[in-house]
Amino acid sequence: MKKITVGNWKMNLNLTDSLVLAKNYVKEFKDFTGTAVACPTFLALDGVAKVLAASPLKLGAQNMFWQPIGAYTGEVSPADLRDCGCAYVIIGHSERRQWLGETDQMVNQKAKAALAAGLTPIICIGETLQQNEQDERENVLINQLRQALNGLSLNNNQQLMIAYEPIWAIGTGQAITTKDADEIHGFIKAYLRKIMNSAAEINLHLLYGGSVTANNAPELARLSSVDGVLVGGASLNATEFLRIAQAFNK
Ligand code: 13P
Repeated sequence: MKKITVGNWKMNLNLTDSLVLAKNYVKEFKDFTGTAVACPTFLALDGVAKVLAASPLKLGAQNMFWQPIGAYTGEVSPADLRDCGCAYVIIGHSERRQWLGETDQMVNQKAKAALAAGLTPIICIGETLQQNEQDERENVLINQLRQALNGLSLNNNQQLMIAYEPIWAIGTGQAITTKDADEIHGFIKAYLRKIMNSAAEINLHLLYGGSVTANNAPELARLSSVDGVLVGGASLNATEFLRIAQAFNK
């Protein structure tokens, strides 16, 4: 199966630095043949899209609203993201759940709206350290998935990505072990097979996120249960991001 590498730049770069990073991506990725996605801030999308246009890199947004148009101050519609050149959109990142109160119901509405607009949603799920230590991980993930995917089915042309991002592994330098990643990804995939329609078997990809680096990427990439990665910090360096993407494009 084709694997995918997604870079989530979060709110780490100003406009100028976003364009510089996009140009560095283009240089590094000129011979790349796989799927790699850059997700800058909303304001940088248009500029970064123009820089990436002549490269194999794809564009994604970090969030969107579920309504197509109307009186929703401060929000951005899925159609506008498409117009900007986005093919992907991250939905329900744990940072949005923590700081913006994003709920599983909102994630569900956003995922449906993204698919309807022709975007591939990358839905983030993951447990806190406390939930992990109290052995609640599987329940937390099942609850998040059940609600996020409620009433959602895929047709043959639609893709959906789930990103398992344990919150304790984000930005901490402490990635999941390969053994643990394989176990929990196997668990998530078994649950997804149970609740999703059959097109989802081929069109649903399970990514891992949380302290992915060029060092741990090769091991993670070897797992058949890991279909790709969602990379934060390490995506801010074009050379390292390419090394990660190459590990997932073997
Ligand atoms: P880090 O790779 O910096 O841990 O961030 C992961 C993440 O949150 C990607 O969405």
